[in-house]
Amino acid sequence: MEEEEEKKKKRRKPYDRHLFLRLMLILFLGFALSTCKACPNAGDGVLSIHLSTADPIPGSVRETWMREAIAAVVSLHGPCPFQPFGAVFVDHTLSQEGVKICAGANHEISDPTLHGEVAAIRNCVAKHGQPRIGSFFKNLSLYSTAEPCPMCMSALRWAGVREVIFATTTPRLSEFGWGMIEIRAEEVNAKSVNVRDPVPYLLGEILTNETDQFFTWQFDKSGKCPAGCARDAKTSNLCVKKAVSSM
Ligand SMILES: *[C@@H]1O[C@H](CO)[C@@H](O)[C@H](O)[C@H]1NC(C)=O
Ligand SMILES: *[C@@H]1O[C@H](CO)[C@@H](O)[C@H](O)[C@H]1NC(C)=O
Repeated sequence: MEEEEEKKKKRRKPYDRHLFLRLMLILFLGFALSTCKACPNAGDGVLSIHLSTADPIPGSVRETWMREAIAAVVSLHGPCPFQPFGAVFVDHTLSQEGVKICAGANHEISDPTLHGEVAAIRNCVAKHGQPRIGSFFKNLSLYSTAEPCPMCMSALRWAGVREVIFATTTPRLSEFGWGMIEIRAEEVNAKSVNVRDPVPYLLGEILTNETDQFFTWQFDKSGKCPAGCARDAKTSNLCVKKAVSSM
């Protein structure tokens, strides 16, 4: 009897040890992944690709220009645009506060490639003409209300912009119900090899406390409308600009 027990113990031992090692490995990997913010697709944290170098532009300046990106789409489509993707190009090399160069807003209704960022690029080209295009975007920072999709991030790389600053992230938009191509701007940036100089500085989640509200109502009928708008039964309960009271 006792001999049998001993044998059983011996047989069990190596197995138990492997199980223990495996559990430790799983725990370690879980920990490593949860703390690895620089890994691609590592969640929804602020993009850390450049976190080792502090942003030279004050946060308040970033926020001011992000509000300008919001204004680019609101001024064109009203206070609750269905596609609230706005973008503005700013030159921070002329002054730290920055100088507005041109802006654009999503107009997918007329052209599926006309996302906010592409609209801004086209407006810039139209406004400033061909001769300077070779180096034109080199000094420019692009502010966008949402993380550039792979198409837009690629276009921004081909343009050779200096910085890409965005608010609401791709994973957040997916969460809100938007159909997304889930390749992060950071990934497109990292995989653009020998495309243009400089490799743009990427900064995400700027002023999301003001941009998120524009993205949360389209696919969630209980979602709150942006300021100045209300659900309207006449338009399938979408958010529309509140009628001005006659009082
Ligand atoms: C970009 O900035 C540099 C340095 O301020 C300046 O010399 C250059 O002319 C600028 N390029 C363009 C296209 O504005
Ligand atoms: C959003 O947060 C920024 C700080 O990051 C703050 O300056 C701004 O006032 C906030 N906006 C609202 C509407 O609370």
